[in-house]
Amino acid sequence: MPELRRRTLLSAIGVTAAAGSVATSQATVAHAADGGREAPYESEVRSLLSRMTLEEKLGQLQQLPWAYDLNPGSGSTKEVEDAARSGRLGSVLSIFGARTTNALQKLAVEESRLGIPLLFGLDVIHGFWTNFPIPLAQAAAFDPDVARSDAEVSAKEARSNGVHWTFAPMMDVTHEPRWGRIAEGNGEDPCLTSRLAAAKVEGYQGSGYRTKDRLAACAKHFVAYGGAEGGRDYNTVDVSESRLRNLYLPPFKAALDAGVATVMASFNTISGVPAHGNAHTLTGILKKEWGFEGMVVSDWTGVQELIAHGFAEDGADAARLALNAGVDMEMTSTNLLTNGRKLLRSGKITEKRIDDAVARVLGLKYALGLFDDPYVDESAAITEPSANARKAARAAAARSMVLLKNDAGVLPLSRSVGSLAVVGPFADSADLLGTWVVPASAEKFPAVKILDAVKRAAPDAKVTYARGVDPEGADTGGIDEAVAAAKAADVTVVVVGEPTAMSGEASARSDISLPGAQEKLVTAIAATGKPFVVVLVNGRPLTIGDWLERAPAVLEAWHPGTEAGNAVADVLFGAVNPGGKLPVSFPRTVGQIPIHYNHESTGRPYDANNKYTSKYLDLPPTPQFPFGFGLSYTTFDLGTPKLSRANVPAGALRKGDTVEVSVSVRNTGDHTGDEVVQLYVRDVAASITQPVRRLRGFKRVTLDAGRSATVRFPLGAEDLGFWTNDPNGEFRLEEGTFKLYVGTSSTADAELTLTVT
Ligand code: BGC
Repeated sequence: MPELRRRTLLSAIGVTAAAGSVATSQATVAHAADGGREAPYESEVRSLLSRMTLEEKLGQLQQLPWAYDLNPGSGSTKEVEDAARSGRLGSVLSIFGARTTNALQKLAVEESRLGIPLLFGLDVIHGFWTNFPIPLAQAAAFDPDVARSDAEVSAKEARSNGVHWTFAPMMDVTHEPRWGRIAEGNGEDPCLTSRLAAAKVEGYQGSGYRTKDRLAACAKHFVAYGGAEGGRDYNTVDVSESRLRNLYLPPFKAALDAGVATVMASFNTISGVPAHGNAHTLTGILKKEWGFEGMVVSDWTGVQELIAHGFAEDGADAARLALNAGVDMEMTSTNLLTNGRKLLRSGKITEKRIDDAVARVLGLKYALGLFDDPYVDESAAITEPSANARKAARAAAARSMVLLKNDAGVLPLSRSVGSLAVVGPFADSADLLGTWVVPASAEKFPAVKILDAVKRAAPDAKVTYARGVDPEGADTGGIDEAVAAAKAADVTVVVVGEPTAMSGEASARSDISLPGAQEKLVTAIAATGKPFVVVLVNGRPLTIGDWLERAPAVLEAWHPGTEAGNAVADVLFGAVNPGGKLPVSFPRTVGQIPIHYNHESTGRPYDANNKYTSKYLDLPPTPQFPFGFGLSYTTFDLGTPKLSRANVPAGALRKGDTVEVSVSVRNTGDHTGDEVVQLYVRDVAASITQPVRRLRGFKRVTLDAGRSATVRFPLGAEDLGFWTNDPNGEFRLEEGTFKLYVGTSSTADAELTLTVT
């Protein structure tokens, strides 16, 4: 892998397959400023194309990496500057800064023959200056507005700094908590992920990314990247067509329906064919079946990696395979630029396909308004998180937290508590921003520490701090001090978790328990017999060992972002009543993986009294915490759910008819609080074995004590049917019995029966 980069890392479903148009050489770009109408850029694009040399066309298909906010002229970026001047460059990634981007843009606009502006991309995944909680955390909010608020704030900050395009949202559904990139997605469920993917696209792109406070979005990684065997990043994925379409593809379709401008190919193979060379997924499904007219970018050296995959002979072959499969722009490696002429001459690629790819790139540049105004106003660049941005990030982080345990009402803590011990390696730590951080932002805008925020929240309390142990490492020397602090305090807050560099790209773990000696710290605090609360800050589900039994209260805070400490304190002291739910199952042990609520039926489902059923001899059949689970400081009661009709003809559903499930929910406790009402469906008998449950609706409601509300879920054909193994895309709604489950987690037990006739 080339060295120049790295890293901003610290460290729907359509009911029927749309008969999509075949990719043509004319870009039509959804231009939402016109209310989502197709903007008429065809003539501009065509006229520009007709004036371009082959070299200039191939240049538009090339993206090269920059060095973030380094100004041109420093020497190390000379290759990129030369390419910009010569018109042999379409886009630059890993770049930001109004001055930096303007200076580089000037080279392309004023010095290249045709003056075609560059497109600037950056990984703005959960924040630019203002870091929001990681996407996995945002999913725990079960509230698309949380994802939307991140996207809106991020778009504003990034665009004012010259960025046009974010490589987000990531929408890789996964059943692999060992996979570090689980932090960047929305967990194990395609329905939840689809809703959040659409919200993020809407938030980034707004009603038009021509506006200078919006970004073009990128649905990634296409596709099935989350299926990496063993959770090892970049690993093989072997997936049936039906699972591809039912599990991995729906969020991408939802992003397309929301108007996403671009799509990024994924590093994995899909049943033997690397995603970057996969004509079935990139052209067959994405461009033809779904009619996607935007641009497909490769992932970082993804084209080049076709050689290591054992799929391409050499760089020229890799370029041929990727372009012909449907990749439009090559990120970082330069195989197409280098070999395009030769490939064209030998007939291995066509001018028509090159023009199609170029038209997609140019169409995006027109839609962004770059031909009218390629620069950004340097005096208007946002240079720090605003008070409003911080407020939104704080609210999002608190809304994403999940209360896993709260025995004897240890939480919320009283602000007038006499003494508090705050212990653990992440209590006085700013390593809480999450996996993607814009370079320099961690130093400039560090996360609010939990210790500091707790002190502010309980100003009269005597607060003692002890680190106890390091985030990693076996040293237990500091535990005695932490124990002494706990013994002397009324209550202890233990902050433990994963360093942020332990999740995200290339950060798979084989052991997903608390790293180092942190479990020992928790156990030692438990042994004091004094009340305590464990706050978890992590980027993936953790296996929570025996200490869970001994901890009276556990709050899952994830990696909460810039406002981490304040958000944690908001929840600990009850200013915010936690209402998040797990977007992913927490396994008991690594040996139980994959364990997820939406697994398919077996012929021998678990039966405690029958050895010859599907289970481990040494473990209960359930995860430690199921998908959809989370507690509150108040309690809720669900009424008996109702179904508007118990029988419905399949034909009516196919024509768009729906049935409605409704249920009342009442706050039976004495705090205002949030509940997430969830609806799951099971197709009892189908021609392809279906998951035992599939989430089909969720709604987060806020209720004052004693108040109730009615939640309604419409269910249509798209919720009840499934995609078959037909590679051409067959969505089938079969007649028969459906079980519907309504409740407050994936173990919901209120059951209804719907018959589709
Ligand atoms: C990641 C992408 C990211 C790209 C650009 C790759 O390694 O897989 O998600 O957008 O780098 O930084």
